Amino acid sequence: MDEREKQNFTYAHNDTSVPERISRTANVNVADFPDVVRDMRLDAFGRNIPVSSDETLAFLRICVAMAKPRKILEIGTAVGVSGICMLKICPSAELTTIEKNAEFASEARRNFEKAGLSDRVTLLEGDAADKLVGLCGQFDFIFLDGPKVQYVKYLPELKRLLASGGVIFADDVLLYGWVNGENPVPPKRRMLVEHIREYLAAVQNEKSLTTTIVDVGDGVALSVKCK
Ligand SMILES: C[S@@+](CC[C@H](N)C(=O)[O-])C[C@H]1O[C@@H](n2cnc3c(N)ncnc32)[C@H](O)[C@@H]1O
Repeated sequence: MDEREKQNFTYAHNDTSVPERISRTANVNVADFPDVVRDMRLDAFGRNIPVSSDETLAFLRICVAMAKPRKILEIGTAVGVSGICMLKICPSAELTTIEKNAEFASEARRNFEKAGLSDRVTLLEGDAADKLVGLCGQFDFIFLDGPKVQYVKYLPELKRLLASGGVIFADDVLLYGWVNGENPVPPKRRMLVEHIREYLAAVQNEKSLTTTIVDVGDGVALSVKCK
């Protein structure tokens, strides 16, 4: 990304130049969240903090409930809403979650505490690229929800950290329908879209992974590390 592009770059989540993409099932998927996150979510939405949509969060909860991970890795904590949802539906799991924004990270710490989950959470504050390199051990479920432009760059570390049989749940891979050609790509988003396409190609060509892309929320790529 050159300097000019960097200046034009804002989070796609906060892109108000185009409407949010609505999947065909968004209005029939009824959200069922733990009580403790309801107010946190509403409050976060009210302050334009990028938390997952109802449909994405509902799907994430189902995937975690099915996978029954012992160790979860999340890239992009925000204020902890998705982390709390995953831990509540999977009582034996532990979460390692990475967040670059210091204010979000301290709010997430308070929210994990409020939810009574602090002892099951390791929150790493900093850039995911640096933190991933320093991680060891194996994770059964990886929720990739940080900077979309970096997904493909993170992939080698994610493959290293993913346990056999483990799942990578990569969110927002259709990005406003720009990635699948549903909507035209705004010029300043071309590079971002290219990087997401590279991520999708990489996981689909990777022999150790079986991947499918589903039209949930803004698009989810599910990859399973085959045994
Ligand atoms: C979509 S939000 C995460 C939402 C959260 N998973 C949820 O559903 O409640 C993405 C988060 O990634 C964080 N982020 C952005 N760049 C990052 C980086 N390089 N390393 C770590 N976190 C980053 C942002 O600050 C933001 O909080």
